Amino acid sequence: MRVSVFGLGYVGCVSAASFAGDGHDVVGVDVNADKVASINAGCSPIVEPGLEDLLGDCASQGRLRATTDTADAIRSTDVSLLCVGTPSRKNGSLDLQYLERVSEEVGRALRDKQDYHVVVVRSTVLPGTTHSVVIPALERESGKKYGDGFGVSVNPEFLREGTALKDFRKPPLTLVGHNHAADASGTIALYQSIDAPLVSTSIRVAEMMKYTSNTWHALKVVFANEIGNLCKKLDVDSHEVMDIFCRDEKLNLSPYYLKPGFAFGGSCLPKDVRALQYRAKEMDVELPLISQILPSNKAQIQQALDQVLETGKKQVGLLGFSFKAGTDDLRESPIVILAEALLGKGVSLKIYDKNVSMAKLVGANKDYIVKQIPHLSSLLCNTIAEVIDGSEVIVVGNQAPEFAQAVMDCRADQIVIDLVRLPIYGSLVKADYRGICW
Ligand SMILES: NC(=O)c1ccc[n+]([C@@H]2O[C@H](COP(=O)([O-])OP(=O)(O)OC[C@H]3O[C@@H](n4cnc5c(N)ncnc54)[C@H](O)[C@@H]3O)[C@@H](O)[C@H]2O)c1
Repeated sequence: MRVSVFGLGYVGCVSAASFAGDGHDVVGVDVNADKVASINAGCSPIVEPGLEDLLGDCASQGRLRATTDTADAIRSTDVSLLCVGTPSRKNGSLDLQYLERVSEEVGRALRDKQDYHVVVVRSTVLPGTTHSVVIPALERESGKKYGDGFGVSVNPEFLREGTALKDFRKPPLTLVGHNHAADASGTIALYQSIDAPLVSTSIRVAEMMKYTSNTWHALKVVFANEIGNLCKKLDVDSHEVMDIFCRDEKLNLSPYYLKPGFAFGGSCLPKDVRALQYRAKEMDVELPLISQILPSNKAQIQQALDQVLETGKKQVGLLGFSFKAGTDDLRESPIVILAEALLGKGVSLKIYDKNVSMAKLVGANKDYIVKQIPHLSSLLCNTIAEVIDGSEVIVVGNQAPEFAQAVMDCRADQIVIDLVRLPIYGSLVKADYRGICW
């Protein structure tokens, strides 16, 4: 491939050198003439293990050169990677001035180019940025239409400084966001010798993925540190705890618990988070992250409540009452909390849960209903049809297998609010189908 790389900072230098090392013809572009001169002399403008040797080899073999001339770079290449900085402004918002400027410059250079050119956004940008900033700037300055004269894809970078070359060779995945197949193939061709699964998605998902990953990484660091601070006070070896914690790849380091949906509940999670927090308070250990877990969970219940109340309807049916399908445990079920809040707002409720029926309940769970929520027990129905027939809004609260068909059977004049993302296509549902956070 003939590829130009705009912005010769950490990402740009590593990308330019690595693609040149893979045999592609690379032209690096930067507004900083010193960086350009440095690369042309085979020297790295940044400190990164192994980069200077690779840059030197590629420059001397003629596979990598750098320039300040955008038009020259666009003329000589078919694909352009935008790797300019997207720093924070003082208020935390994203400063897109470099990205907008480089998009305008590339757009101007595209005006005189006949061949289809693919512009790849490699800088980290929030969802919507490619459509609201990059594509308009390219169209405005080139006089061409996106998808016609030029293409655009989003290809976030997952390298870590200090191990950037190794990360480039073996990233967790190669992510390409695009809206046109031709734009994807131009981008994917660059990665033929990279050992990583290729994930093709939309531009917006690719943009959001990068932020989701980085926020997750930041969260992991802070979580481990808070556990560590508490362990130290409790005279427990935090490293041993976290080593063992990381060996559980079923629940701890896995996709489990990572599906956007409703609040958690049940007899363990809320109780144990509270107890840990209380002990930390007793020991004067600050846990700013962990102490926000229960408030965040409560906010998700409020989110569901708001969504139901916003419909303005007064006849609501709840499918699922226990905190997860296949159990009759109602202790701290967020659906119970939601039901009580709805009743408090004057909504009339009907509830169905196969596992929670007064006739079948015994022991602790029957006791809980009778003593703690007797006013809700009278709202329990024996069949799904009883709930659906008389409701204007149906709220799905757990993943019981029978709920998918029930939702597909809902009438067109009903609203379904799904808190758990049932395994159905929303487009197959006749009712007005809404997800809590999708
Ligand atoms: N640094 C990392 O480890 C890393 C990792 C993944 C993603 N990212 C993202 O990649 C992007 C680039 O990060 P970075 O750390 O390489 O930035 P950087 O600040 O090190 O480099 C940016 C370069 O762009 C150049 N530039 C600015 N305007 C230009 C223009 N109009 N034309 C050509 N060059 C121009 C600057 O002179 C500079 O050399 C950011 O969005 C960042 O969030 C960074």
